[in-house]
Amino acid sequence: MADWSECLDVAVDIARRAGQMVSCAVQLEKRVSSKSTPTDLVTEADHQVEELIISTLREKYPTHRFIGEESSAAGVKCELTDSPTWIIDPIDGTCNFVHSFPMVAVSIGFAVRKELEFGVIYHCFDGTLYTARKGHGAFCNGVRLQVSKEKDVSKALILTEIGAKRDSATLDIFLGNMKKILSAPTHGVRIIGSSTLSLCQVASGAAEAYYQYGLHCWDIAAAAVIIREAGGCVMDTTGGPLDLMSRRVVAAGTREIAEYVVKQLQPINYGRDDL
Ligand code: IPD
Repeated sequence: MADWSECLDVAVDIARRAGQMVSCAVQLEKRVSSKSTPTDLVTEADHQVEELIISTLREKYPTHRFIGEESSAAGVKCELTDSPTWIIDPIDGTCNFVHSFPMVAVSIGFAVRKELEFGVIYHCFDGTLYTARKGHGAFCNGVRLQVSKEKDVSKALILTEIGAKRDSATLDIFLGNMKKILSAPTHGVRIIGSSTLSLCQVASGAAEAYYQYGLHCWDIAAAAVIIREAGGCVMDTTGGPLDLMSRRVVAAGTREIAEYVVKQLQPINYGRDDL
């Protein structure tokens, strides 16, 4: 049975090349436009980096399938089948990229028969590389990752992201959720502008949990393997199993903290990636 380790090596190589392209592009003038909402940004670099990643992988693996953030935005169906599928965010943290705020990553996940097999996340500004393969552990620059074992939410640092909707009803729910999480009381809540790098902080044990409504399958795929292999849990905001296409997630070092977070959240409906 294939162990996909060769594909992981290829993913690491292309993530590094893509990350270097992003770190060069950040110094140039950016052509910025918006997608689903005025705050859902995209630049020429997002398209160029996705093209580099997908064309390189397609040449090497012509029978594999691809889900990419910008291809999906351009109308390519976002569909997870049983075929080996690469799930790609060329620039996670596009708004950060536009402002040169140094939290930007390339994220490449890989699934077979709808099961996530490995994930690679490359921090474009400092070159940190997060990797994991199912059953083989998670690593940061080659050093094994371990989630926080904290079970007491009053000692937790929790991360979230805002999502692209800014209508008043959505913001009321978003702020209500954050108020509940803060008033546990937790040590604090952080928003860094990149779902993938936030999830890597949970995998590293630098934060106890992460929750979000409004992210996409390309924000979760690679990070989910990395967190699980670091000993953590990744679940739906209802507490059920993660649904990659559901645009919502709770991740934590321990089940106790994940379940606490789940109980505080009022849902925000962002629809699904595969509809
Ligand atoms: C977004 C960022 C953002 C999060 C969004 C993501 P993008 O990814 O991670 O922080 O709030 O939900 O989709 O658009 O920069 O690749």
